[in-house]
Amino acid sequence: MDIKGTTRVCGLIGNPVGHSVSPAIHNNLARLTGKDMVYTTFKVEKGDVEAAVRGAYSLNILGLNVTVPHKSEVIDSLVDIDPLAKAIGAVNTLVRADGGFKGYNTDILGLARELEDEGIELADSKVIILGAGGAARAITFLCSSKGAKKIYLLNRSVDKAQDIAHAVNTHFNNEKVIPMNIADYADIPGDDYIVIQTTSVGLHPNDTAVVIDDESFYKKAAVGVDIIYNPAETMFMKLIKAQGKKAYNGLKMLLYQGVSAYELWNDCKISKKEADEVYKCLEK
Ligand code: ATR
Repeated sequence: MDIKGTTRVCGLIGNPVGHSVSPAIHNNLARLTGKDMVYTTFKVEKGDVEAAVRGAYSLNILGLNVTVPHKSEVIDSLVDIDPLAKAIGAVNTLVRADGGFKGYNTDILGLARELEDEGIELADSKVIILGAGGAARAITFLCSSKGAKKIYLLNRSVDKAQDIAHAVNTHFNNEKVIPMNIADYADIPGDDYIVIQTTSVGLHPNDTAVVIDDESFYKKAAVGVDIIYNPAETMFMKLIKAQGKKAYNGLKMLLYQGVSAYELWNDCKISKKEADEVYKCLEK
């Protein structure tokens, strides 16, 4: 790609940022759609977020992604925020607006699009979410907003699951989210659940750890989704597949959070064919 005087710049702010696959997603999207845009990363220290966001706006930067540890802190530097991102309390995409940036959470838009892509319907579904960190919080909001009828939220530290359940149930004015100690998984009634793995267990290549090491738990699954994408097949996914069910890793979610951001920045729609093309580049 030729960088010219007219080329618009997008980028990722966070720390660390060197490992990010976002440059690969966005630069491939720009190449495929013929947009005069380039994407890179900016390492930003804690405490420098406001200056970075203000400076980026002044430099006419087209859009920013935000990653760890700034996803909550960045909210104070925005002129506007999407209501779901506000409820979640985390923003990963900044889009130019009048006088500053508007914040969105495309992490969950990405998961929603992945599930759609795989034909997994959240409306009226029963969901089990493993973990109660930042990702679980966003995913619980998503599942509730899409009309899941029951969401069991399991965590080692049950107080964190309780906090998320309270926030989501209050926001949607219902009692769909049930917090639980992960050790009590056998108390979950019945089967046919969409099981979403959001903990960091299994995160390292060759890591065979799994958050629930009991085959009977995996019989509850209709399908499994792990937000981890490296390794490409986690032990969680293997245990779901051993029950004859489909299991997906987090690579499509990651791809689609980027696709959703790219669409917001460029006011365009990426086709499934274009998204699949980028996915192939990421799998390599
Ligand atoms: P993220 O923002 O990606 O969600 P996080 O906020 O650090 O990451 O959350 C990590 C999740 O993995 C938490 O739910 C954590 O459980 P605790 O809240 O009890 O710490 C979970 N987790 C990490 N290591 C774990 C382990 N060995 N066993 C069970 N859960 C674990």
